[in-house]
Order: sequence, then C-alpha cells, then structure tokens
Amino acid sequence: MKQLFFIAFVTSIVVAACKTKKSTTTSADNSINYDAQLAGIKDKFPDATVEELKAGNAIYSGACTRCHGKKDVTKYTDEKLIQVIDKMSKKAKITDQEKQSLVKFAYGVRAVSASK
Ligand code: HEC
Repeated sequence: MKQLFFIAFVTSIVVAACKTKKSTTTSADNSINYDAQLAGIKDKFPDATVEELKAGNAIYSGACTRCHGKKDVTKYTDEKLIQVIDKMSKKAKITDQEKQSLVKFAYGVRAVSASK
C-alpha cells in the first residue's frame, strides 16, 4: 500500500513538472542580425524580407517551443532541415505561409552561424 502511494506521488510530481515546463530560455531577440540573415539567404530566397524573418523567428520562438526548447537548426543539411521543418510544422499546426517564413528564418540562422 505504501509503495502504491509512493508511485502515485512520484507520478504526480512528474506530471506537474511536465506541465510547468515552459521553455524559457532564449537569447535576446535584438541579438539577431536580420540584415545579415537576408544577405546570407539571398541566393536561395531573393525576395525574402526582414518582416518574413521576424515572423519566422516569432514562430520559432513561439509555436515551435510548445513541446521543447529552441532546437538547433544549424546542424542539418538542406534536405534534412526541410524534412524536420515539414514534420514539426505539422506538429505545431502552422500554416503553409508560416512554414515558409520559418524555413527562411532557419536558413538565415544557419547562414549567419556558418559565417562566424
Ligand atoms: C507537438 C509537439 C511539438 C511541436 C509543436 C514541435 N515539436 Fe519539434 N519535436 C517534437 C518531438 C516529440 C521531437 C523529438 C522526436 C521527433 O523527432 O519526432 C522533436 C524534435 C525536433 C527537432 C530535432 C529533430 C531531429 O531529428 O534532429 C527539431 C529540430 C525540432 N523538433 C524543431 C521544431 C520546430 C522548428 C518546430 C516548429 C515548427 C517544432 N519542433 C514544433 C515535438 C514538437
């Protein structure tokens, strides 16, 4: 009986911990150099805009952190990055347009981090 109580107790802690686990981390937004990102992706996305990158970042920092923190998007090849974003966009239930902004932002983050 005691054991059962203990298990229930532990379970409730775990559940509570999961519920309150909101991703908090994040580097300040103003550290993002959108112009550098735009320059970095202009071959691939010639008509991308700073507004789009900002929208992408908002999704990345918002809808995409519902289940986990901000995942590193710089470590993937193009193909894998698109696969991951496709899969995760479904999980995050974002629109196609939002996904496009997110893709550009992810490429931007990667382009800037690669040039460092
Ligand atoms: C409904 C929950 C949920 C949402 C919302 C979500 N993710 Fe995920 N994500 C997961 C889970 C679970 C995993 C680990 C298992 C997997 O890969 O499916 C994961 C894994 C990842 C990975 C690592 C994948 C790999 O194979 O290396 C990345 C990158 C990622 N997510 C990015 C994102 C982005 C970007 C968004 C926003 C579009 C997002 N996630 C939204 C649940 C979510």
